Amino acid sequence: MGETPSQLLAAIEDVGRDRTRGGYSRHLFGPAEHELREWFVEQARNRGLDVTTDRNANTWAWWGEPGPDAVVTGSHLDSVPGGGAFDGPLGVVSALEAVRRLRRSGRTPTRPLAVVAFAEEEGGRFGVPCLGSRLLTGGIDPDRARRLTDEDSISFAEAARRAGHDPERFGPDSSALSRIGRFIELHVEQGRGLVDFDSPVAVGSTVLEHGRWCFTVSGQGNHAGATELADRRDPMVPSAAVVSAARRIAAAAEGARLTVGKLVPEPGGANVIPSRVRLWLDARVPGEGNTRPLVAELAATARDAAAEEGCEVAVSEESYSDGVSFDTALRGELSEALGGVRELPTGAGHDAAILAKHVPAGMLYVRNPTGISHAPEEFAEPDDVEAGARALTRVLERNAG
Ligand code: HGY
Ligand code: MN
Ligand code: MN
Repeated sequence: MGETPSQLLAAIEDVGRDRTRGGYSRHLFGPAEHELREWFVEQARNRGLDVTTDRNANTWAWWGEPGPDAVVTGSHLDSVPGGGAFDGPLGVVSALEAVRRLRRSGRTPTRPLAVVAFAEEEGGRFGVPCLGSRLLTGGIDPDRARRLTDEDSISFAEAARRAGHDPERFGPDSSALSRIGRFIELHVEQGRGLVDFDSPVAVGSTVLEHGRWCFTVSGQGNHAGATELADRRDPMVPSAAVVSAARRIAAAAEGARLTVGKLVPEPGGANVIPSRVRLWLDARVPGEGNTRPLVAELAATARDAAAEEGCEVAVSEESYSDGVSFDTALRGELSEALGGVRELPTGAGHDAAILAKHVPAGMLYVRNPTGISHAPEEFAEPDDVEAGARALTRVLERNAG
């Protein structure tokens, strides 16, 4: 064992490849994510760490007795459908490598140190992002979480049970939370800030507020050929209006990002007018409290478009995260430890942003020359991956001495 983080990533590069979409589809408790969990446990144990899984299916690898004021680092192993190789795993492999280097240097931490892999960060299976860290911090009602279902109508509770977890234990984990002195997440940058800075690493500053809403448009299923236009109540028509209105509304609001990335007509036949269309809006807007008003504006447009087509529309908020500004002192320490690297805002959500409301949390970003993420083109050069591992090692050394 002595792999670099790039070699560790190469060791898992075939796990969860999505042959149809390209990239990776590694969804919670699915075969690929299960394989990555096992791999993580083996790698952690090879580094002399003690591994436990908490009540919310988050995996913790401890150096020293799990105790208060621990320095915790890590990220997630799950992906979006067709996601990149770095979003999540880069933070985990860099943390494993930082621990190896600290151990190799003969140092013993002055405080407990842990590497964590949070569950369902992408919300790719059950629709709520950062589900593991939200449960841990009391950010979601455990009963609501248990009832979340995937596209096969399997509940989170049932999927957890099949994976060997007890869903009745889901919920706030004050003892796990109380052990965290600070959390530092390394993550591939999901943008081009570091390319523009011409720097391999930066410190995270803020995360946009963001949320997900499901628009359900109901009409009348019917025959595509035998149904005159005047007789139609086609939910796809108002749904299309929602998609284009989302762009129009976002374009009119500085820095706003409204995205419809998932739209499911039912039953979904090419010669069938759908009876129902569900579409998911991902909305993220700079500032404070600016996101929901834009969603409300879009919902009003959806209702008008639906009424015109004799359809109904229902809008439900599935997840929401306030904007976050990471702990100022920790940001300063991270930047100083790395020789004064710049700070970067992000529109991407992270477990660090969920934890930031409860413990001092910070992030390190590693340059992504394509600036693309949540797609197979996501990338980080080996030299920058190495720079990130070096930076994280230095930061852990500073924090856990
Ligand atoms: O969607 C996000 O912002 C993150 O990648 N989960
Ligand atoms: Mn992501
Ligand atoms: Mn991520």
